[in-house]
Amino acid sequence: MGWARAEGPAAKKLWGGRFTGATDPLMEKFNESLPFDRRMWAEDIRGSQAYAKALAKAGVLTEEESATIVDGLSSVASEWEAGSFEVKQGDEDIHTANERRLSELIGPLGGKLHTGRSRNDQVATDTRLWLAGAIGRVRADLQALIAAAAERAEAELDVLMPGYTHLQPAQTVRWSHWLLCHAASWQRDDMRLADLLPRVATLPLGSGALAGNPFGVDRRFLARELGFFGGVCPNSMDAVSDRDFVAETLFAASLHLVHLSRWAEDLIIYSSGPYRFVQCSDAYATGSSLMPQKKNPDALELMRGKGGRSVGGVAAILAVIKGTPTTYNKDFQESWELMFEAVDTLHDCVRIAHGVLSTLRINPEAMRRGLSADMLATDLAEYLVRKGVPFRETHHISGAAVKMAEDRGCELSDLTPDDLRTIHPLFADDVAEVWDFRRSADMRDTEGGASERSVLEQIQKLRDYLQNA
Ligand code: ARG
Repeated sequence: MGWARAEGPAAKKLWGGRFTGATDPLMEKFNESLPFDRRMWAEDIRGSQAYAKALAKAGVLTEEESATIVDGLSSVASEWEAGSFEVKQGDEDIHTANERRLSELIGPLGGKLHTGRSRNDQVATDTRLWLAGAIGRVRADLQALIAAAAERAEAELDVLMPGYTHLQPAQTVRWSHWLLCHAASWQRDDMRLADLLPRVATLPLGSGALAGNPFGVDRRFLARELGFFGGVCPNSMDAVSDRDFVAETLFAASLHLVHLSRWAEDLIIYSSGPYRFVQCSDAYATGSSLMPQKKNPDALELMRGKGGRSVGGVAAILAVIKGTPTTYNKDFQESWELMFEAVDTLHDCVRIAHGVLSTLRINPEAMRRGLSADMLATDLAEYLVRKGVPFRETHHISGAAVKMAEDRGCELSDLTPDDLRTIHPLFADDVAEVWDFRRSADMRDTEGGASERSVLEQIQKLRDYLQNA
C-alpha cells in the first residue's frame, strides 16, 4: 500500500500539460480543498466576473467575450445556489471547479478567463472577499449584543450587587455596571474588527503568480468593482505571500471569545447554588440525566470551552505561516479551515451570548443578600479622609473597626458611633450614613464609576458608539 504511481497522464488537470503520470488517489484527496473552499463559490465567481471585465478594459477580451464569460459565470452561480452544481473528479478546489464548469457551458472561450491570473492571486482575493463579508455579519450581531447589554443596564439601573476582586466581596456596584463592564470589552472587540477590516479588504488580484500582471489590468478598477475599500496590495509578491489578515482575524476572534468566556464564567458562578443572582432561561440551559433538580448553564460552559479552543487556532495559523519561503506555498491552504472554524464559532458565540443575555432572569434580592456591611469598610475609611485624616491611617482605623466587629461577632454596621469613637475621636454621629450600599455606589461618581449618573453616562456613550459604528 501507500505510494502508487498511477497509470496514464494527468492531462485533464488544469496544470496537467507537463505531467505524464497520474496522481495517487490518496494524494488527490490530500491535495483537494473543495470540501471546504466551496464555501467561497460566490466570492470566486464575483472575483472572476470582475476580472473578465478588467481583461476587456485591457483589450485582452472583446466586450462581447467578456459579457459571455460574465453571463456564463452567473449560470455557474445559479447552479451553486440551486444546489445543482456537480462536482467532478479533478475539481481540486473552488477555482478549478468553477473554471471547469464555465468552459463546459461556454466552450473554449472559458479558457481565456485565467489570462494573466494565477490561483495564487485568485485564492487570496476570494478569501479576503469572503472574510470581509463575514466580519461585517459578525459585527452586526456583536453590535446587537452590545445594544442588548445597554438596554438591560438602563432597565435594571437600580439593582445593586456585590462587586468582587479575587472573587472576594469587595465593594457595592450596580448590576448595570457589571453589564457595562463586559459591554466595554465587547466594544473594543468590535473596534478591533473594524480596524482590521481595511487590511482584509485590500486587493491581491492583478498580482499574478507572484510577479504581477503582464496584460495591464486596471487593479484600481478591480478594487472598486469588488468593494476592496482598503485599496490594492502594494506589492505582488507580498499579495500572494501573506495570510496575516487571517491571523489578525483569528486573534481578534479569539480575544472576543476570551472576553465572552470570562463573562460566561461570571454568570456560571452567579447562577450557582451559593449565589443564585441569575438564572439562565430554559432556552440556553439543559438538565441532568440523573438529577431532576438540575439546570445547567451549558450555553455558557460551551462558550468558555470554545474560547479555549480558539486560542489553539491562533497558534495554528501563525505556525502555518511561519517559515514558509516568500510568496505562495501550499501550506496556506491549511488556513481556510482554521478561518472558517474561527469565524463560525465567533458568530455562533456572539448570537448565543445575545440570547443568554436577553433572556437571563436576575434575582435582585439574592444580589442584595450578597452585600455585607464589611464591604463598606473602605467607605468608613473615606469618612475619616473627609475629616482630614490621611488615608493610610484611616485604612488602619477602619481595619480596627472590622476587627472589633469580628471579635464581637456582629456586623460592622452594628458598631455604634460611641464604639467607633473608642478607635478614633473624629467619628461623629453622622457616621451612620456610611451604612448605605446605594450611597456607596453613588459616591463613585467620576467618569466610569458605579454611580447612577455615571452608569447612565456609560450607556449613552455606548449608544453613541453604536450609532456611528
Ligand atoms: N486551493 C489552493 C489554496 O487554497 C489554491 C491556490 C493554489 N495555487 C497553487 N499554486 N497551487 O491555497
